[in-house]
Amino acid sequence: MTSLLASMVPTSVVDFWLETINPLWSTQQALARITHLEHAASDSVTLTLKANRHVQGFLPGQHINITVEVNGVRRTRSYSPAWVNSNTGEFSITVKRVDAGIVSRWLSQHSCIGQVVEISPAFGDMTLDAAQPKATLMLAAGSGITPFLSLLRGHLTSYPAPITLLYWAKHEHELCFVDELNALASTHAQFQVQYLLTQADQPAQRLNEQHLQTHLERSNNSQIFACGPQGFVQSAAALAKQYDVPAVTEAFYAPEIIFDSNHRVAVTLQRSQKTVMLPVGQSILSALEAEGINPAYGCRRGLCNTCSCTKLSGSTRHIQNQDSNHESPTNVRLCINSASSDLTLDL
Ligand code: FES
Repeated sequence: MTSLLASMVPTSVVDFWLETINPLWSTQQALARITHLEHAASDSVTLTLKANRHVQGFLPGQHINITVEVNGVRRTRSYSPAWVNSNTGEFSITVKRVDAGIVSRWLSQHSCIGQVVEISPAFGDMTLDAAQPKATLMLAAGSGITPFLSLLRGHLTSYPAPITLLYWAKHEHELCFVDELNALASTHAQFQVQYLLTQADQPAQRLNEQHLQTHLERSNNSQIFACGPQGFVQSAAALAKQYDVPAVTEAFYAPEIIFDSNHRVAVTLQRSQKTVMLPVGQSILSALEAEGINPAYGCRRGLCNTCSCTKLSGSTRHIQNQDSNHESPTNVRLCINSASSDLTLDL
């Protein structure tokens, strides 16, 4: 019925009337409605959402982008569902309020049951393969716990290898899902969990070699997953490299870049017919935003591809691994690349 209507009338008109009947009805847009809301910790809220039929399935440990309208402006951020029911299309996300985070503040303060948000296809490589099990050390800091919770809920009953979760927070009251994690540890012999506080009295609670050594003694076929702030996952990646253990890391934010604001290059936005002078070394996304230009973005860490656009000429540098890209035309992700020469972008 909806496809017949859509073939006769513009999609936007069909969607407008469908949404007046049911906010989840749409001819092509992936949408989800908030069905349940619960405060998981003093600064976190857990939202349960039900997706419409345009949302493809996703694996435990993956992420999705959520788009909401805040003060008339569409804002997108990525979240990792902590629970997924692929039969009903329901999933839950835990949102930690960040003072400077427009979307996290809006979701934690203004979201309510019945609201509808846009969502993207799933993305991310932090997934477990039960057919090729490995002893897995999960390193979580803050809301980096959510992909691990999803992995544990989705895999623990069928995953045969040992799993150790080390979960850091500044204070005890900021730890989420403690009762559930303890229950999982008491009912699954291959799972251990340990909580570590970085602003408590005990010294040496920060991630260190000892944490890896203890885990690696349990198996010689191991992998490390780390999710948290940039500095935390960089330490985890460095330790994994030191011990030659494969690691998948996901940081909340792109790294802070020290750049020379005096060294600028001309970046031309071809479709907008604008040229701006941007500092070398800063992500193109942040540098454009500083000029009052706001390209679309989601995760800001090179995962979701939302900020990707075509580079028509010039050179860019990847701000994490420092690889240069001189090819054109080619796609660049604006959040993790900086301009290293004059550039033309299809923006
Ligand atoms: S915003 Fe997700 S890849 Fe750039």
